[in-house]
Amino acid sequence: MAVLPIITIPDPVLRKISDPVERVDDAVVKLMDDMLETMYAAPGVGLAAPQVGVLKRVAVIDAAEDGQPPNPIAMANPEIVALGSTTRLHEEGCLSIPDVRVEIERPAAVTVRYIDRAGKEQELAAEGLLATVIQHEIDHLDGQLIIDFLSRLKRDIIIRKFKKQARS
Ligand code: NI
Repeated sequence: MAVLPIITIPDPVLRKISDPVERVDDAVVKLMDDMLETMYAAPGVGLAAPQVGVLKRVAVIDAAEDGQPPNPIAMANPEIVALGSTTRLHEEGCLSIPDVRVEIERPAAVTVRYIDRAGKEQELAAEGLLATVIQHEIDHLDGQLIIDFLSRLKRDIIIRKFKKQARS
């Protein structure tokens, strides 16, 4: 396993739509394992493949509470198949936008269908932080970022700041 470099804004890769995984082969398993190691090293609770420069629909998540045993989840082709009717407000961060937090209201519960590390189809009913992180990571696979939930003015201020940092 390897810790991979994490891409930050304004890298245009983060705005691309990722391609579905055709088969969970050795290369995809290695990607999942490297992404998990990268996520834990960061540390973070989720990571999507575009954040390490790979435009494939792969995401890894561990939304276990502090003090709980680790709960690594690796997903290929995650797809939301049901949304709860209530919402949850959470201040989200993103490893690709360091030191920025955005309060986002999303459905509080989701059911996600995906292919697991063993190539098996899974369906997972999630709520709380896990539901939030699943939606955040799927957004990445569609080129969407937490700053898209801000007003255009606030978003532009953040993008300008990161462009300036990238130049220096
Ligand atoms: Ni993120």
